Amino acid sequence: MRKPFIAGNWKMYKTAAEAESFAEEFKKLYEPSDVRVAIAAPFTQLWALKKAFEGTGIGLAAQNMHWEDQGAFTGEVSAPMLKEIGVDYCIIGHSERRQYFNETDETVNRKVLKALEAGILPILCCGESLETRDAGDQNAFVEAQIRADFAGVAAEDAKKVTVAYEPIWAIGTGRTASPEQAQDMCGFIREVLKDIYSEDISEEITIQYGGSVKPANASDLMNQDDIDGALVGGASLKPADFIEIIHF
Ligand code: PGA
Repeated sequence: MRKPFIAGNWKMYKTAAEAESFAEEFKKLYEPSDVRVAIAAPFTQLWALKKAFEGTGIGLAAQNMHWEDQGAFTGEVSAPMLKEIGVDYCIIGHSERRQYFNETDETVNRKVLKALEAGILPILCCGESLETRDAGDQNAFVEAQIRADFAGVAAEDAKKVTVAYEPIWAIGTGRTASPEQAQDMCGFIREVLKDIYSEDISEEITIQYGGSVKPANASDLMNQDDIDGALVGGASLKPADFIEIIHF
């Protein structure tokens, strides 16, 4: 039985002071339930949030990492560095990183493998552009991403990966995919995972939808068979909105 998993992606928002005041407010509203919750914050805010969330069950995520343990890679942060301060998850291959920072399925795959080796749970993002959807090529596009991004990931490790389907045209645009569109793709992703691994493994993998998830649309999306959670950008910045989504 897959447990719902809602993760907030703060992107490049919130200073340390803002993150701490979010945590104070959020902790007052948050009640543990059978919904898994995590927040992906900028690197500089992770340590403070780790301390703020101690003992609450709220998970902590980074938004990116390098695929090497260490080295001459100015400006990068590695998986062991994140693990050391208690980071649980890392978003890998978000479309903004693919688009603005030249991430490819090859680097995304290396990062997924390294995260798993370091004991960090990947939240692996995939999703097509509007152009690709308008051309009707979205399934082939996302299938190629999934196959490339999971290359070399053993079956036992695949279960630890959360896949976040985030159509680029729905991110930050207010134009959410309809529950049917989101379900169609998340169901298709599960079929691809079944083909790569097995039915049992594919049934255990958590698949989130992301792209303009708000309190008003969260429950319709979450009620779909193959949608096990959400990756929430803008609406995770306000404690009350994020709490409402968690209580979908
Ligand atoms: P959004 O972002 O909820 O603001 O559309 C989602 C994401 O990019 O993860």
